[in-house]
Amino acid sequence: MPLDQKIKELQERRQKILLGGGEKAIQKQKALGKGTARERIMILLDEGSFSEYDMFVEHEARDFDMDKKSLPSDGVIIGTGTIEGAPIAIFAQDFTVAGGSLGLMHSRKITKIMDHALKMRIPLIGINDSGGARIQEGVNSLAGYGEIFFRNTLSSGVIPQISVILGPCAGGAVYSPALTDFVFVVQNISKMFITGPEVIKTVLGEEISMEDLGGAKVHSEITGNAHFYAETEDECFAKIKELVSYIPWNNQRKAKPMEPAEPIRECDIDKIVPDDPTLPYDVKDVIRSVTDKSEFFEIQRHWAKNIVIGFGRINGATVGFVANQPLEMAGVLDVDSSDKAARFIRYCDAFNIPIITFVDLPGYLPGVDQEHAGVIRHGAKVLYAYSEATVPKITVIIRKAYGGGYIAMGSRHLRADFVFAWPGAEIAVMGPEGAANIIFKKEIMASDDPDATRKAKVEEYKTKFANPYVAAAKGYVDAVIEPGETRRLLIHAIEVSDNKSVSLPFKKHGIPPF
Ligand code: HXC
Repeated sequence: MPLDQKIKELQERRQKILLGGGEKAIQKQKALGKGTARERIMILLDEGSFSEYDMFVEHEARDFDMDKKSLPSDGVIIGTGTIEGAPIAIFAQDFTVAGGSLGLMHSRKITKIMDHALKMRIPLIGINDSGGARIQEGVNSLAGYGEIFFRNTLSSGVIPQISVILGPCAGGAVYSPALTDFVFVVQNISKMFITGPEVIKTVLGEEISMEDLGGAKVHSEITGNAHFYAETEDECFAKIKELVSYIPWNNQRKAKPMEPAEPIRECDIDKIVPDDPTLPYDVKDVIRSVTDKSEFFEIQRHWAKNIVIGFGRINGATVGFVANQPLEMAGVLDVDSSDKAARFIRYCDAFNIPIITFVDLPGYLPGVDQEHAGVIRHGAKVLYAYSEATVPKITVIIRKAYGGGYIAMGSRHLRADFVFAWPGAEIAVMGPEGAANIIFKKEIMASDDPDATRKAKVEEYKTKFANPYVAAAKGYVDAVIEPGETRRLLIHAIEVSDNKSVSLPFKKHGIPPF
């Protein structure tokens, strides 16, 4: 056969496969505000950059009349491309083909692209839209998931792994996203759960909709499983591109620097923190007053809001921010905020991203609920993550740094490289009121005017300890600085620590308080 005819045959074969599960299934997909798998890849990747592999793979199942069915590309598209020039490996499940269900060949395609991503040390993006294990393929489907989870774990901390939930992600399938670094969800489209509403109804007799069980809001606000929430698929893809711009391709590289830019000075850093130390303020204003263009790419914005995490740039370099949020529960550390901070610190550490910590917290949250929910175990994760991290660590104490909170939030004692304190910083074992009530209890009780004595003792304690100078006198704080000096000192600290080199004692791995 002459070459042009062979090319024509190739084109015809391709054309047939590009129809996926057929017009009807595609229309159903569109009616739900969803794109097809290939459309999604095309929107996400740079134009013309996608190179598809294994387009002609077919399933090999024979039971339940499967031998009579052709499933184009076996319901998953894989390949490589670029996002604003960064190389990316990608898979996208095609719900129009057998509900994107995962059989043996489907899983082999996914594991092939995962192996490729790890070997080439490039980020992996997985678009999940699937009814889960392909029921007709039995244990082969389960084997496929196991192979995926194993690779997710091997790749963890080596290449960035991003999961995008653009449809159902049911049953054991949820554990692949859960093992990856960042999970994106979209309003009304994403559904993630271990056991669906029907099983819950049968086993527990409870009725619940898929949305209320594991919709995008649930995972953004309640469980913390999702890191980014979008209202539409397009918004979601824009956010993924932004994320990719902040992170390096692998753990041997640094994030690509951008052109340095000044913050947009719409807020005066001197005026953010109120004079009255009992009043809250938005710590994101502090972050934006030091970042290039005042940009801050927040992660897990809707969950555990008492701590703020995310990426920004300082003089062109990507940095990770961890900041107590006085607007929410006075910025305390609790079970969820500890998990949120600790995981992000480990992410930054794995991918060579300096960590900037802004401190303003009254400590760990007291109470029976927190104690019984394991605040000891979860809170310890923050200590572990900061202590273990060897990337540059820069800490700025804005206001309160009390008790365990002082130690946990990137203190000198956990090997912060630079510790700065603003003049209003209060570094003490506990808040002045609590402290005075305990250590001056006898004097207060014996006094003719206990209230006046208490007030006087609180003031005495404040003057003595609730300031940055005691810590500065011991060298626990390197410099007491004016708020307006913060950005300049952060730029300097990041430049100075560009070649930081420390090593941990030899170990196979530590035993963090998971
Ligand atoms: C085979 C499946 C499938 C599956 C969907 N399909 N899920 N085929 N195995 N798991 C097929 C349907 O038969 C249908 O085929 C097509 O995909 C579209 O599905 P619909 O049901 O018509 O779509 P919709 O109404 O949108 O409902 C989507 C859904 C539902 C909610 C995902 O399909 C569903 O509940 N599926 C089963 C989910 C599930 O229980 N999966 C197994 C979980 S256990 P036709 O030919 O009619 O178009 C699991 C274990 C993994 O995953 C453990 C790993 C550790």
